[in-house]
Amino acid sequence: NRNGIDFAVADLTLAEFGRKEIRLAEHEMPGLMALRREYSEVYPLRGARVSGSLHMTVQTAVLIETLVSLGAEVRWASCNIFSTQDHAAAAIVVGPHGTEEEPKGVPVFAWKGESLPEYWWATEQMLTWPDGEGPNMLLDDGGDATLLIHKGTQYEAAGVVPSAEDDDSDEWKVILETLRASLANSPGKWTKIGEGIRGVTEETTTGVLRLYQLAAAGELLFPAINVNDSVTKSKFDNKYGIRHSLIDGINRGTDVLIGGKVAVVCGYGDVGKGAAESLSGQGARVIVTEIDPICALQAAMDGYQVARLESVLPIADIVITTTGNKDVVMAEHMAVMKHQSILGNIGHFDNELDMAGLARYPGVRRINIKPQVDEWVFPDGHSIIVLSEGRLLNLGNATGHPSFVMSNSFSNQVIAQVELFTKYEEYDKEVFTLPKHLDEKVAKIHLEALGGELTKLTKEQAEYIGVDVEGPFKAAAYRY
Ligand code: NAI
Repeated sequence: NRNGIDFAVADLTLAEFGRKEIRLAEHEMPGLMALRREYSEVYPLRGARVSGSLHMTVQTAVLIETLVSLGAEVRWASCNIFSTQDHAAAAIVVGPHGTEEEPKGVPVFAWKGESLPEYWWATEQMLTWPDGEGPNMLLDDGGDATLLIHKGTQYEAAGVVPSAEDDDSDEWKVILETLRASLANSPGKWTKIGEGIRGVTEETTTGVLRLYQLAAAGELLFPAINVNDSVTKSKFDNKYGIRHSLIDGINRGTDVLIGGKVAVVCGYGDVGKGAAESLSGQGARVIVTEIDPICALQAAMDGYQVARLESVLPIADIVITTTGNKDVVMAEHMAVMKHQSILGNIGHFDNELDMAGLARYPGVRRINIKPQVDEWVFPDGHSIIVLSEGRLLNLGNATGHPSFVMSNSFSNQVIAQVELFTKYEEYDKEVFTLPKHLDEKVAKIHLEALGGELTKLTKEQAEYIGVDVEGPFKAAAYRY
């Protein structure tokens, strides 16, 4: 705690560097800057107390300061143990007008290379406002903060936290420890937090899936806006963002030439499409695995071989998972991969790769090459290189998506925060998406920033295709 701000970051002296990069990023984030201008005298988030769990990067710094400029008070944590950019975290704590000695920014609890207990501690701090009142808005990426509040509320209602033995995942044991401590020390804490929240805006595919599951079970504690399925989010960030940041992560992690190699991409959804293009753009021969015949056929039409993992592992030089599913590459798969082939995941959680099974594999040895790069040596002497311990490698080995594409995603986030904060009484405890005219607004700002010229419909043309001259230009079912 310094100058009344509680925080936990790696090094406040990095703030100046962070501020310089934030300044450059602002120019590349025209959507967020347009929202700042649009709301400059309105402060629609005045009174909002936003707890945010999302990769603490330079781009997220611009998001946080946009929320603040719209009137919100904010507390932040990262949604992944490796994704924080320490200079961005420091700059946000110091703030644009503060100093290291006298920070005037936003409480941040995030540093690169957290342990799992530290991660859940940071998540709890981000949700624990010093005056005891709690947040009234949640901004989540992957749903961990939402999960903690829901589990805490359930256990408080039942009066008991199940024992760690009920679940065999190490991560779950840590969550239960966090909850057990708060149940003992602050009874009713999570119920109160859940009751105070007007709504959550969720960033990614995996978090959205969790929200729909909670809503279907009738357990969702507050309304939710699915930001991921704004077209200007998932069809841009998940695809073009990955096209940029996947090879960035592989290059920074290994510096191995991608051209001419065989790269297997597991999953051909939005992220998989960007991943395949990223690798083939470098000259790799890309092979796709899919469970869904529609996405598999798309991959084939895009020119990629579609195969089962087992059939192509012996020739793969690079294997990347993008499924958002679990158990996609198991330890037995890893054991038959080529010597020094590269294995990485870019989906939200590390359970796409069987890291626990790898660690237990008889006779396997782990050699740490550098942070977030490990060589795993099998008893026969051959080895594979695993990036970011199986966590999303674009944020673990590199700096995630670049600013311009995140400006699209985060513009939707800000619009969703304003919508739920100001109109929460109109929303049931379900999952909603933003209306199409707002999606088109976000796209228009970014198109103009790129110097694109939009063709204008005549009144007659608009009538002929059955839309308004000003949009929305597509029916809800249109798939882009
Ligand atoms: P999506 O649902 O569009 O695509 C996933 C694809 O994987 C689907 O086509 C599905 O049929 C396929 N799939 C599922 N199980 C499979 C299996 N066992 N083998 C092969 N294919 C399988 O989801 P999207 O939007 O592409 O997101 C994927 C993951 O990436 C999610 O966890 C999401 O949260 C995450 N994500 C990560 C980002 C990053 O910066 N690293 C950015 C955006 C999303």
